[in-house]
Amino acid sequence: SKEGYPHFMIKEIHESPRAVKDTIDSLMSDIDLVEKVIEEIKNAERVIVIGAGTSYHAGLYFSIELNRLGINSLPIIASEYYNVRSKKGDLVFAISQSGETIDVLQGIRMMRNSGAKIISLTNVIESAIARESDYKIYMRAGPEIGVAATKTFTTQLASILFILSVLKKENLKKMEKAPDIVRDTISQVEGLTKKIGEELAKKSNIYYLGRGLSLPLAMEGALKIKEIAYVHAEAYPAGESKHGPISLVEKGFPVVIINDGELTELLQNNLMEMKARGAKIYAISVNKKMKDADVEIELQSEIPALSIAPVIQLIAYYAAVTKGYDPDKPRNLAKTVTVE
Ligand code: M6R
Repeated sequence: SKEGYPHFMIKEIHESPRAVKDTIDSLMSDIDLVEKVIEEIKNAERVIVIGAGTSYHAGLYFSIELNRLGINSLPIIASEYYNVRSKKGDLVFAISQSGETIDVLQGIRMMRNSGAKIISLTNVIESAIARESDYKIYMRAGPEIGVAATKTFTTQLASILFILSVLKKENLKKMEKAPDIVRDTISQVEGLTKKIGEELAKKSNIYYLGRGLSLPLAMEGALKIKEIAYVHAEAYPAGESKHGPISLVEKGFPVVIINDGELTELLQNNLMEMKARGAKIYAISVNKKMKDADVEIELQSEIPALSIAPVIQLIAYYAAVTKGYDPDKPRNLAKTVTVE
């Protein structure tokens, strides 16, 4: 049941803190599995991270971090698995909420046949992908009814961040705070995300720009608003926007800048370039404020990704609702894609 919420999507966004808590608790209590997975990651010649849609975005985030740590990693979009020549020594990290996405399954089958080991991160116990994996990690988000992935994206990020924390031998106290970080963010941003969602609902094109670790989050923001509010949105690495996309920008063109606090100065340059062409700038900034944004959501957060995730979801939700669409059942889409 929707428990008093108008849609499953908004209910599930509000369940994110609980979903993150259950996921972190479960990873803590199965720390042996996490340690084994980390051993495999360290010993692998290459970590291939595979997923589709939202799960690909979580995977891209993970892959960027692994590469930054000096671990050779290749992120792949599941339906493009045939481009990869995998071999023994490869480790595949498969991410899928449902654990049933056919493209992911095909990819891991192909790579296992060439000798790779498989780790899966899914939300469904003994899902098809989990059954075909050497190591099964589970998110504890609970069932997700809305077609748009929300709490499961946030728990994918939390799981990945937990694994990375253990890998980096960090104090896990920070990850214990994750549920509160998500909860605090949601309570702070409801008003502004509604305002932004209402404005973006009127647009026909939007750019979502990010850099570094905020790029996969920008990609997720664009996917979400496209998927449920039917607004064409495109994510770009902010620096790449100068190499073509900026020619579309004219007065009032909406640009959402995702700033996780790491590359603020570079993003600030991109903001000014867009603004000089008349763009209307919506900045979502964590820990570092931006200058000259038209609308800014400013957050303080120890784990920026976990604060940005609910913000982009709420913006998409309010855009869909403003246009009178049912965000739980976007047209043409199935919750689980089982045909290639
Ligand atoms: O179950 P999966 O995580 O494998 O699903 C992958 C995609 O189909 C899914 O994330 C899709 O992009 C969502 N509807 C996005 O909100």
